[in-house]
Amino acid sequence: APGSPALTPPLGWNSWNTFGCAIDESLIRGMADAIVSTGMRTAGYRYVVVDDCWFDPQRDGQGNLRANPDRFPSGMKALGDYLHGRGLKFGLYQVPTAQTCAQRGGAYPGSTGSQGHEQQDAATFAAWGVDYLKYDWCSPEGSRDEQVAAFTRMRDALRGTGRDIVYSINPNSYHAPTGATYNWGTVADLWRTTEDIKPFWDTGNVNSYPMGVVNIIDETLPLAAQAGPGHWNDPDMLEVGVGGLTPTEYRAHFALWALMAAPLIAGNDIRSMSADVSTVLRNADLLAVNQDPAGHGGRRVRDDGATEVIAKALADGSVAVALLNRGGATARISTTTAEVGLLGAGPFTVRDLWTGGESASTGTVSADVPSHGVAAFRVRGGTPATLTTSTVVGAGSTR
Ligand code: DGJ
Repeated sequence: APGSPALTPPLGWNSWNTFGCAIDESLIRGMADAIVSTGMRTAGYRYVVVDDCWFDPQRDGQGNLRANPDRFPSGMKALGDYLHGRGLKFGLYQVPTAQTCAQRGGAYPGSTGSQGHEQQDAATFAAWGVDYLKYDWCSPEGSRDEQVAAFTRMRDALRGTGRDIVYSINPNSYHAPTGATYNWGTVADLWRTTEDIKPFWDTGNVNSYPMGVVNIIDETLPLAAQAGPGHWNDPDMLEVGVGGLTPTEYRAHFALWALMAAPLIAGNDIRSMSADVSTVLRNADLLAVNQDPAGHGGRRVRDDGATEVIAKALADGSVAVALLNRGGATARISTTTAEVGLLGAGPFTVRDLWTGGESASTGTVSADVPSHGVAAFRVRGGTPATLTTSTVVGAGSTR
């Protein structure tokens, strides 16, 4: 949105995917310490986002939000100070309706949504040092006009504080025909494109709950043209290291989110992550692709059904390429420099973004890709062409 502080996709961590409602200040502080000690901060992860269930179930006598005194006895200003003291940024969760999702579902008491309190709550967030607001529309369903009005009210309230606060929204209304096709780019800095992610590869469900990795890319890749500095498609937070996916699937998930120019918000327990998971999340080549200043979203350029090719044009004229194998066995996947948007005869160099190995190419990019894997490359050389959704080639797609 105009005035966005998120000129590249936000990088951070959020409490929801692993901890749900079971959060408190010692957990968040411990996670912040781990983000520093594991090198996640150095890799670029900055926003520590406290999701649903942080607040007192009642506003105070003046209608102000308060921290839940049992869970966050030091208060939210102190938590923000703690994070800032470690070179991190502070994110909080709230809703534009009357009740948060946990409140509506009965998992948490009260009715403390921002509806009718937008300016007051934005002022509270700014006073606490909040740098990122996740603003989550839970049921009841609203019309598109109601949603635009409510999300715009908080955008204006946040911008009105004068503080840089990244504005992340979840309209919870992705479903065709009006859902995912709506471009929130003038309202929010990032907006969810799908239902909640769960740590599955493929639930077989597009446009329904829950969503696995490939279901989410099927809904988000067609929206690539919406992505750019200050306005990002958000295909939901990372499940890397959360459990439920294989190591190969974790790598694929991370590479695909990097190429989609998605916000990379880790959801695993950083305090106890394995060396493998840490290596995936801190992959400097993929993070550079994700944080590329041009801000292009990755596009599908070849689709053969079980295998496909996704390309993301980068600011220096090179192109990031993902070869995705959805099938059940290792497959040879091939594309060309022309297909990924590099014209001319080269010479080309192909850098493997998992191994760092580089090789020369006369115009072919190919790899043997394991089942549910992604081979990822950065290809340099030739003359960049503009990628559009109409440049998709390939045999077997029904997507
Ligand atoms: C729904 C969102 O999609 C989740 O990421 C999380 O914020 C929950 N609401 C919290 O209730």
